[in-house]
Amino acid sequence: MKKFKRHLITSALPYANGPIHIGHLAGVYVPSDIYTRYLRMRGEDVISICGSDEHGVPITLKARREGITPQEVVDRYHELNKKAFADFGIAFDIYSRTSNSIHYETASEFFRKLYDQGEFIEKTSSQYYDEEAGCFLADRYITGTCPHCGNENAYGDQCEKCGTSLSPTDLIKPRSTISGSAPVMRDTLHWYLPLDRYEPWIRKWILDDHTEWKTNVYGQCKSWLDQGLQPRAVSRDLDWGVPVPVEGAEGKVLYVWFDAPIGYISATRELTPDWEKYWKDPETRMIHFIGKDNIVFHCIIFPAMLKAEGSYILPDNVPANEFLNLENDKISTSRNWAVWLHEYLLDFPGKQDSLRYALCASAPETKDNDFTWKEFQARNNNELVAILGNFVNRTLVLTNNYYNGEVPAPGEMTDYDRETVSSIMTCRQNVESNLEAFRFRQALAEAMNLARLGNKYLADTEPWKVIRTDPDRVKTIMYVSLQITANLAILLEPFLPFSMDKLRGWLGITGRHWNEAGRSDLLAPGHVVSAGELMFSRVEDAEIDRQIKKLLDTRKANEKSEAEAAPQKEDVTFDEFTRMDIRTATILEAEKVPKTTKLIKLKVDTGIDVRTIVSGIAEHFTAEELPGKSISVIVNLAPRMIKGIESKGMVLLAEDEKGKLVFMVPEEKIKNGSPIK
Ligand code: MF3
Ligand code: ZN
Repeated sequence: MKKFKRHLITSALPYANGPIHIGHLAGVYVPSDIYTRYLRMRGEDVISICGSDEHGVPITLKARREGITPQEVVDRYHELNKKAFADFGIAFDIYSRTSNSIHYETASEFFRKLYDQGEFIEKTSSQYYDEEAGCFLADRYITGTCPHCGNENAYGDQCEKCGTSLSPTDLIKPRSTISGSAPVMRDTLHWYLPLDRYEPWIRKWILDDHTEWKTNVYGQCKSWLDQGLQPRAVSRDLDWGVPVPVEGAEGKVLYVWFDAPIGYISATRELTPDWEKYWKDPETRMIHFIGKDNIVFHCIIFPAMLKAEGSYILPDNVPANEFLNLENDKISTSRNWAVWLHEYLLDFPGKQDSLRYALCASAPETKDNDFTWKEFQARNNNELVAILGNFVNRTLVLTNNYYNGEVPAPGEMTDYDRETVSSIMTCRQNVESNLEAFRFRQALAEAMNLARLGNKYLADTEPWKVIRTDPDRVKTIMYVSLQITANLAILLEPFLPFSMDKLRGWLGITGRHWNEAGRSDLLAPGHVVSAGELMFSRVEDAEIDRQIKKLLDTRKANEKSEAEAAPQKEDVTFDEFTRMDIRTATILEAEKVPKTTKLIKLKVDTGIDVRTIVSGIAEHFTAEELPGKSISVIVNLAPRMIKGIESKGMVLLAEDEKGKLVFMVPEEKIKNGSPIK
């Protein structure tokens, strides 16, 4: 690996519209903290940057729902999240925020530089406008029916039901989130970053020069690049955000994904007057810790911005993780399906390291992974308590019993002693190589192997028996055990900072350089160690049962609210109703639309004609079972192109609370084309 002079570690800026949960911690912040602590112990020049992402439509929507200002929303969560990270020992050098003035300055300057260099395309386009509220409807200000799955509450940027990303004009029956009214189209001017122009160098930079990136990251980048990059709008018509610093751009702000990553730069500026050396010197190694939903922004768009600006370095690696699930279900803030850090601390005070350990041990490094409370309990009780805590405790207590805590001078070493001692160095190398490859789970497992080795050593050498027959031999055994303990204090520090801090206190040592690990003379004869206390305590069944019950209650509450019928929509007039032409019809043929999961192409006899309708029902029905079925169809729905097929009309289906679809069919078979009124 190329030798770098310094490191700049960034961790995705969490949105300040909700608290931090275990998914955030496992995917982004525990890994970034481990890596940062490791580099610091190696004596590297390293800074770790994070802060709140305080712009974007979800924040203004939340403010509107709660009747408070966006600033009040972000103030609340900024403080809460900053404290949660500090409570869990996440060692940022700064936890800044994107609503502060240094960020406004930095982001405006950045935009302005690209603007002056002519990097943007300026384009007027028609966008949805709410005449009642008097504003444009960006992103989540617009909802409507998803053209892919029929979800009626899809957002202007994404359908959360089928996961498709959308643009507002894809929505069928769009309506304003603000007033509920149907929006009109109005012209508006925006600035676009022409990603297509940068595609050739991005392609080379990632696909040729960064083949060492994690396969999940590399693969996602490749698939974006293979689809071809499009110009991306970097501004929005909104009143919350960094104003577009161009004359005549009133009412326009920078798109949140343009300003947020610049937040890393602003935070560095806030941290140190020397910020430029971290951002502009090619001898700095920049690493972005993120979750998989952030890959395109950190691997393609932000690098394109940095390169277009011209004076910045690019990330050397982006070790993104996949997602963590909770008890077999997707973590979700809106469904309250999460373990929140601040709540965990109330329920398990002082047990930060237990959670850090469990999350690192089953981090979603290569695929999505599941957190269960039972596994958490097992990791705590069977690994932290029974292996690590037990070894350290026995070593310290025996040393105190036999030698009043003084490290004994070793006698002659047996082959077994020598073998044990040399395993310490092997262990350090294993931890190290895994850390450097961002394989934190494996690095932790290797470090724990040293504690396992210590336990085995004690069990094999049995000092508590030998003390009666050969007390001199015990001096060597305890000397070796103490050296293993001191090595654990180094190797586990990045993972378990609270416990290793305690351990260093008991051992009477201060922070150690990483390169001291592997040695077997860390504690000199005569040095005094205390008997310590228990490093970890057990998590009892009752505590776990309480957590599981809490989740079951959440699930029940969610099911209950889902089971309630959706609220009635706004009134329509009789005229509006009669404009809809609904007829009985029969399916003649059905065929799955290739390369889609949801769509079936139907040939339907409507009594008026035989026509094609594309329907999002493939997850509910097979093509084979459909021909011959009686159905109801809106026949005068304006034709739409779906996956290159012209669909004329819509089949009516009822959907229950679990998403199950049922055809609306006439009670008796009647002639096709009979009107439904
Ligand atoms: N707030 C974003 C998220 O939670 C992450 C922003 S990272 C930054 O997904 F680079 F844009 F800051
Ligand atoms: Zn959808």
